[in-house]
Amino acid sequence: MARQSVSSILQTVVLGGLLLVAVTPVHAAPRAGLATASYTQEQAARGAETYKEACALCHGASLGGAFDTPALKGRFVANWAGAPLRDLFDYMQRAMPLSAPGTLSAEDNADILAFLLQENGVKPGKKPLPAESAALTHVQLPKTKL
Ligand code: HEC
Repeated sequence: MARQSVSSILQTVVLGGLLLVAVTPVHAAPRAGLATASYTQEQAARGAETYKEACALCHGASLGGAFDTPALKGRFVANWAGAPLRDLFDYMQRAMPLSAPGTLSAEDNADILAFLLQENGVKPGKKPLPAESAALTHVQLPKTKL
């Protein structure tokens, strides 16, 4: 009798743990098998210009954030790493710039994302970052905190 109740308590604890894992926000759940995203130097250079015009006011000229705005460097990478880059791209498309959400084109957002990759230590490559969320499903930010 006593044994049974201990094992059912254990079962509850284990199930509870699984539930907790299941409700962890998508962007915090690491997934295996995603390649690090590739972008070109030209994209990042364009992105730097657009960032200056549309984002720097709040997130800071050097991406450091402000008292009420998160930095887009460092811990930011840990927040989004391991999840498809699509999640971050879609978030930017939908929610930013906070003052006028959704006003930038997909190309502008891909350029800004390339700039964010560059500023977070990802080296440029030959393949441009696609400006389409479906194409960003299998790539991610680098996993390690930079
Ligand atoms: C008017 C101020 C403002 C502007 C302009 C702005 N942002 Fe933001 N941004 C914020 C705030 C505030 C948050 C936090 C939002 C929240 O907690 O819901 C945020 C959050 C974010 C995040 C999520 C950060 C994280 O740690 O998960 C990203 C990415 C982002 N912004 C990108 C951009 C980009 C790219 C632009 C330019 C196109 C931009 N933002 C323009 C205020 C701004």
